[in-house]
Amino acid sequence: MASARGEFSSRFGFLMAASGSAVGLGNIWGFPTNAASNGGAAFLFTYLILAFALAYPALMAELIIGRHARANAVTALRSISPGQKSRLLATTVGFVGILTVSFILSFYAIVSGWMIAFFFDPIARILGMDGLAQWLTEDAVLRNSLFVVLFMVFTMYIISAGVKDGIEKWASRLMPSLIVILALLILYVITLPGAGDGLRAYLVPDFSRIADPALLVDAMGQAFFSLSLGVGTMLVYGSYISKKENLPTIGSLVALLDVGIAVLAGMLILPAMYVALNNGVQIFDESGGLIAGPGLIVSVLPALFNTMGAVGVFVAFAFFALMTIASLTSSISMLEVPVAYGVEHHGLERRKAAIAIGSIVTLVSLVIVFNFDPLFDLVVTYTTEVSQPLLGFSFCIFVAWIWKRNDILEEIKQGCPEVESGLFWKIWPFYVKFICPVAILVVYFQ
Ligand code: TRP
Repeated sequence: MASARGEFSSRFGFLMAASGSAVGLGNIWGFPTNAASNGGAAFLFTYLILAFALAYPALMAELIIGRHARANAVTALRSISPGQKSRLLATTVGFVGILTVSFILSFYAIVSGWMIAFFFDPIARILGMDGLAQWLTEDAVLRNSLFVVLFMVFTMYIISAGVKDGIEKWASRLMPSLIVILALLILYVITLPGAGDGLRAYLVPDFSRIADPALLVDAMGQAFFSLSLGVGTMLVYGSYISKKENLPTIGSLVALLDVGIAVLAGMLILPAMYVALNNGVQIFDESGGLIAGPGLIVSVLPALFNTMGAVGVFVAFAFFALMTIASLTSSISMLEVPVAYGVEHHGLERRKAAIAIGSIVTLVSLVIVFNFDPLFDLVVTYTTEVSQPLLGFSFCIFVAWIWKRNDILEEIKQGCPEVESGLFWKIWPFYVKFICPVAILVVYFQ
């Protein structure tokens, strides 16, 4: 059974896959700009606390359910529900999760498509194809449609190949490259004039902001999105972890990698923005805040690369390679959620499920591309600000209030026999039972 559904072949493989899911546009784009507009290190500080105090326990909840059930989100939640009512709730939460993550993928793929287009731009310029380069960087329905399809084809291709030969193989190649590219870019950008001001904006805390409710809400949303929580992604990845693996340890490694890369990305993006300012690029919007939305990635940074002369072409190439890699290792983890369900629940063949579900998501993406203004923000808001927190809340309820405590302990003990005497078991059950659900609701109703 286990081999039929696939399993990560090593700890490294799982870590690359799960951190690949976690590390995405949310880290490299979302985190630094959130930090910049919310008081720099004051946001960083709040984020670190929330990530370890709230997001890590919720991540553990998903990994434990997943590995216990060794099944997709719907089947897994049903298997830990004792009564008829809780099983109905399980089906609902599992399904809403599958729908939510599919819609998240539909907008994520659009932005990822932009990243691929910008990745090809420096290549076109090196080849002297200036017309093509211009087309690649101009926001247009045709360009956006083509690149969303291209991106989804890559995603479907990897998911078709399965857990070990698809997800694990690609994540193990791509994630180390991502870390190397990120490190090289930081080392280069940090030497440029103006970079110091960016580091100061990022790392000097404005503690007057720390009590700001908007900062808390942003930090919590950022932490949940970044750790891919609430929609069954980590549950499904957890279902492919070996029973010999120590869950609390690998869960904390995933959280550390995710947070670490977000913090590092801040050391690239903010210095880069201030280098751009130094080179005469506009980096503030009309209200005086740093440009943070799509404008940052598709206009501020490319304008910066243009001011760097010949080196700029390579920097642009490296930067958009980084963004494309980050997107792809995240998008595969999103598509895996509905595909695992289709394969296990409806007996579909993996390749067919990947292509069929991937195509439906692509169609939804295209509808959004064609109706960008009304739809894009709507889908982002409903999935990440409404659905995801409520689902995260429900996952905590399942683990802490519906599932039997002894079964949880037995599950963690596999691979971590000493868990009962350790710190994790003293704190975590209480946390997911009381602190996490209450905190999620409080922030939600903010
Ligand atoms: N965590 C990824 C990022 O930071 C995105 C992501 C992957 C995600 N899987 C998810 C977000 C599931 C929400 C739900 O970009």
